[in-house]
Amino acid sequence: MRFAVIADIHGNALALEAVLADIDALGIADILNLGDHLSGPLEAARTADLILARDMVSVSGNHDRYLRGDPATLHQWEADCWHELTPAHHAWLASLPFSRVWKDEVFLCHATPQEDNVYWLETVSPDGVVHARSLAEVEAFAEGVPQSLILCGHTHLARIVRLTDGRMIVNPGSVGCPGYDDDAPYPHKVEAGAPHAAYAVIEKAAQGWSVEFRRIAYDWTSAAGIAAAKGRPQWARAIATGWL
Ligand SMILES: [Fe+2]
Repeated sequence: MRFAVIADIHGNALALEAVLADIDALGIADILNLGDHLSGPLEAARTADLILARDMVSVSGNHDRYLRGDPATLHQWEADCWHELTPAHHAWLASLPFSRVWKDEVFLCHATPQEDNVYWLETVSPDGVVHARSLAEVEAFAEGVPQSLILCGHTHLARIVRLTDGRMIVNPGSVGCPGYDDDAPYPHKVEAGAPHAAYAVIEKAAQGWSVEFRRIAYDWTSAAGIAAAKGRPQWARAIATGWL
């Protein structure tokens, strides 16, 4: 059992193409996709086409949920994505489950099993520092999930946490958005520190799940150029450098 885990593409079709090419070169057929697929000042519709052309196992992210809402309530950059999408794209967004189980062994969610916009493996302190959550807190969110491998995205930070009972939680990092800032619960930044497209390859070995984090070089200069041309210089800088 060997498969790819991708998350947080955020409309970055160029990054997704590079990741898909890498997955194909490895001969991996199964792709699990943890959501926040399309939202970003990039190529929402082309990204949707790339995803729909594959038979991915996907769940909904908080931004996928926002795109199911009234575009008048969205920030302009996300409303622009909404209007760029076709009825088929919107129908696909509407079909995405909140969470799902794959082959009885793998649990997929975007952020936590309960919420699509709460950090699981990290937390933010009032002074804006993003740091690792305590094991006890991480385990509390995993209560009631029996699968031995649990996948989450949302924070764009690649990380593995092994629970005391042996279950593993894996965040593969972000395919298309290596840096962002947010105001909640406190103003903070998340920066991967490099512009590479991130994803994970996971394999079931005799002793447990083996995880390989991959960082794929791609044409981030062109991707950043798309964001810059749409008037989003901070997105452009993050995509080009991995820093805000
Ligand atoms: Fe998210």
